[in-house]
Amino acid sequence: MRIQDQHYRTIWEKAGSTGTVQVIDQRVLPFELRIAEWKQLEDAATGIRDMQVGGAPLIGSAAAYGMWLGIRELNQASNWPKALDGIAKTLLGTRPTAVNLRHAVEAVLNACSRLATKKELATAALNVARRITEESVEHCRAIGEHGLERICDIYRRKQKPVNILTHCNAGWLACIDFGTATAPMYLAHDEGIPVHVWVDETRPRNQGARLTAFELGQHGVPHTVIADNTGGHLMQLGMVDLVLVGSDRTTRNGDVANKTGTYLKALAAHDNGVPFYVALPSSSIDWSLRNGADIEIEQRNPDEVQFITGHDGQALRKVRLTPEASPAANFAFDVTPARLVTGLITERGICEASEKALTGLFPEWS
Ligand code: MRU
Repeated sequence: MRIQDQHYRTIWEKAGSTGTVQVIDQRVLPFELRIAEWKQLEDAATGIRDMQVGGAPLIGSAAAYGMWLGIRELNQASNWPKALDGIAKTLLGTRPTAVNLRHAVEAVLNACSRLATKKELATAALNVARRITEESVEHCRAIGEHGLERICDIYRRKQKPVNILTHCNAGWLACIDFGTATAPMYLAHDEGIPVHVWVDETRPRNQGARLTAFELGQHGVPHTVIADNTGGHLMQLGMVDLVLVGSDRTTRNGDVANKTGTYLKALAAHDNGVPFYVALPSSSIDWSLRNGADIEIEQRNPDEVQFITGHDGQALRKVRLTPEASPAANFAFDVTPARLVTGLITERGICEASEKALTGLFPEWS
């Protein structure tokens, strides 16, 4: 994806140096393009927890690289299984909802299970991190192609710009390249199909207003940032043709956990007959859970609700929004039940949100 016409991914290995991972620091966008460097496990764990990196697929790749950095720090005499378990626990404790993190850590542990030397372990972990990263890019590209069909269907009927509403950042920044929900938008735009994106600001951390708006703007996609509660009104006025969001964890039955507020958009879409699609790579499907009630919903620091950070023209500033004495709660995700989801857009195609349809696309999990 482009920033000022230069191609970037959101995570990569630093050229000419072994053992350094670089990431785009999402916390200072869109005001500054800051590249952070991770050299040890703690850098990766802190980067994930404090949201230098956010978004389910990127968190997965970051966790795999974190395993690699952790292994590189071990001394030769380490008890490998115990040491690997410790590294895994550190990373698993950073963020609980996006299942990509657990999948990535487990993939590294599996790859390492029968290896004997530190060199072998490090090589195996690095290979897994590279594979997960490349897969994410490839899956997002395929999701883009499948999702494009839906946008084309609407455009064929309407013959006017297609208005798409999205929530949070399910874009290139969150997914290494292309994005999940944004991939069909980019493809449509590139193919000359006129699209316009309503971007939910996505309080409390404003990933929509800061990140999605930034990347759509860099790609030249027409978009408008709206307050989180505006979507329902726009749907009543017929100003939304399609809702397209990402997912941090989708369960076997097609329930979808995504950034808090997604459920309310699904309710409004349902009430107004607006199709509600979720774009997700299979790496964010949790086949072990029957339904969304069992998903752990991350509760973050209430500070993120009580304060807001913005740029005053000179510097980033954090200011208080709420009375000092008022407590706040910060539930970072919610679950949209499968019955409100029109379809799931995966790398293997689009299906209805049900166990039967999902296992039809992914028979290895039936
Ligand atoms: O808290 P974040 O920024 O990690 O949340 C990101 C989202 O909720 C995205 O919509 C999600 O990860 C789905 S696709 C990248």
